[in-house]
Amino acid sequence: MHDRPRRLRATPAMRDLVAETRVVPAQLVQPHFVVPEDRAEVPIPALPGIARMGVDTLVRRVAADRELGIRTALLFGVVDKKDPLGRAGEDPQGPVHRACAALKREFGDEVTVVADVCLCTYTDHGHCGVVEGPRVRNDESLPLLARQAVSLARAGADVVAPSDMMDGRVAAIRAGLDAAGLTECAILSYAAKYASNFYGPFRQAADSAPRAGGPKDRKTYQMDYRNRAEAVREALLDQAEGADLLMVKPALAYLDVIAAVRAAVARPLAAYLVSGEYAAVEALAEKGLADRGALVHEHLHAVRRAGADLLITYHARPALQHGWL
Ligand code: PBG
Repeated sequence: MHDRPRRLRATPAMRDLVAETRVVPAQLVQPHFVVPEDRAEVPIPALPGIARMGVDTLVRRVAADRELGIRTALLFGVVDKKDPLGRAGEDPQGPVHRACAALKREFGDEVTVVADVCLCTYTDHGHCGVVEGPRVRNDESLPLLARQAVSLARAGADVVAPSDMMDGRVAAIRAGLDAAGLTECAILSYAAKYASNFYGPFRQAADSAPRAGGPKDRKTYQMDYRNRAEAVREALLDQAEGADLLMVKPALAYLDVIAAVRAAVARPLAAYLVSGEYAAVEALAEKGLADRGALVHEHLHAVRRAGADLLITYHARPALQHGWL
């Protein structure tokens, strides 16, 4: 007589009955790239199936996503108007600001609008903070990030999501929001964001790669992927500074980090399956080496199993469209 775990794997119905991990549509967040031209819909070669959209196109897309069950949109701006301080990021007429307003007008509380807060798509050097010679300055960047966050909350964002990795930015943003009377706007902090090689397609999509005039990479502010305890430290700091939700990014090479952070904090935890992770799945499927839907099913469940509560993924729409969950 030996124990037989295979009894519970005998049929699809049995396997579904005992599955320890579920993914439901309400947990999925769909990222969007928003451009100034309202009717634009420009495919992004590096992210097959994803387009840069203007406000009108975005509203239609979010309406269709909502029909599928996606109720959260994460917005990134893409602009040509760049300067050393990323001022376009706090322009109330900017694409993300107008998108926040339009989505709230159209969908009200039915859709949660999350606005990315960062300088890199708005700065001419492409860094997420103020650049001075070879350095990215920390404290000088905080007021700019806080102002951008306040402007986005004023425009209607339900949640602001700082992705810059400057120290102290959650406290600075919370103080800015509260001083402006925006006490209800939540903060989703990219608490543990690694200096990853998987952001390549995003940087093409958002035109946000580091350029001449500053350090060549983001390693002085994004985390070193050799570290895990440091991620817990970052998450605890952001929790103490007032973050309502926390994030680990990327997701798939960081499942241990997700588990460690999940165990240490008392906030909902998001994981971001980033552009390179999306593109890798697309490339495998394109080559006929794996089934796209099965890959996405495996990835999303793995990240949930590790402990993430929310999943930010470019595959949100196709996953629901094609019933991959
Ligand atoms: C920058 C930012 C990045 C991503 C989200 N916000 C890239 C970076 O740090 O260069 C990556 C997202 C993705 O790859 O899907 N603030």
